[in-house]
Amino acid sequence: MAYKIAVVPGDGTGPEQVREGLKVLQAVGEKEGFKLETVEYPFGGEHYMKTGEFLPDAALDELKEFDAIYLGAIGHPDVKPGILEKGILLKMRFELDLYINLRPVKLYPGVDTPLKNKGPDDIDFVVVRENSEGLYVGAGGFIKKGTPDEIAIQESINTYKGVERCLRYAFEYCRQRKKKNKLTLCGKTNVLTYAFDLWERIFNQLSAEYPEIETDYDHVDALNMWLVKNPEWFDVIVTDNMFGDIITDLGAMIQGGMGIAAGGNINPGGIGMFEPIGGSAPKYTGQGKINPLAAICAGAMMLDYIGEPHGAARIENAVAQVCEKHLQSLAAGEMGYSTSEVGDLVLKYL
Ligand code: IPM
Ligand code: MN
Repeated sequence: MAYKIAVVPGDGTGPEQVREGLKVLQAVGEKEGFKLETVEYPFGGEHYMKTGEFLPDAALDELKEFDAIYLGAIGHPDVKPGILEKGILLKMRFELDLYINLRPVKLYPGVDTPLKNKGPDDIDFVVVRENSEGLYVGAGGFIKKGTPDEIAIQESINTYKGVERCLRYAFEYCRQRKKKNKLTLCGKTNVLTYAFDLWERIFNQLSAEYPEIETDYDHVDALNMWLVKNPEWFDVIVTDNMFGDIITDLGAMIQGGMGIAAGGNINPGGIGMFEPIGGSAPKYTGQGKINPLAAICAGAMMLDYIGEPHGAARIENAVAQVCEKHLQSLAAGEMGYSTSEVGDLVLKYL
């Protein structure tokens, strides 16, 4: 079996993270009997500075032909915030209709969490973030911009179709995960009385189709509180784009930080893009200090998605061993090993 993978190493420490990820993925392929045929794309801040190009439509059409996209990081200190996000990352999400953002939050043994008295048994949940609507659509505008009467409007778009497909995915995901069989809707029904009314109605409708799944609801502010105080209550959390963005950074911290946090942007049944969720960390570029585990874990998610769950499990197990037996810390420059040495350690436990 051979899979076609588009690789976008991107900026800063992205390339060195992706290098380790690919090293691990190729090694797993040899053990499991599959091949990854990779094609590299140059998109990112560096490429934009050189060429003025973000993610051209022709490239998007090419990307559609791959089984998955493996991305390092996009971000450049000399490019104004918002431009690369919109031109590359969000464009990929919207144009490829990657409507689910999947973010597992799992604390591996031996990894420090800032949560006192919590361990691997307590921190193991997945956030299903809607990834194609909400405040991210860019609906709105300015009226009388630059005057004292200025009005800035930014609207949250929630369609029946968009909400339904996200919630359905979350129910299905919760069912096949076979952990606590519990799905929590995170919203703000007490204030956002239109958007989350729609979410709640569809959530309750679908719940009838999944009698084996226990359902629960939290307002987003309270959810933040519970994630810190009682993370063990959660199994799968589903929420809109903006809330999902916020709570998954909290999730990343309680699982040990950006050194290990990975995510997938997926179009279920179609293509998916997998990435370490941290940024390009430009100050560490080329120093061999960045932790490649987040990219390696993103690689595992990618294998699971394209249909190589055994390979994915091998990587997850190896990462757990490396965290438990070797690394001093998951923070860049404090691991006790260089970026490529951490990659080598993972290889050893595959
Ligand atoms: C993320 C990031 C992006 C987002 C930014 C870079 C546009 O924070 O993937 O969570 O807000 O979705
Ligand atoms: Mn984010």
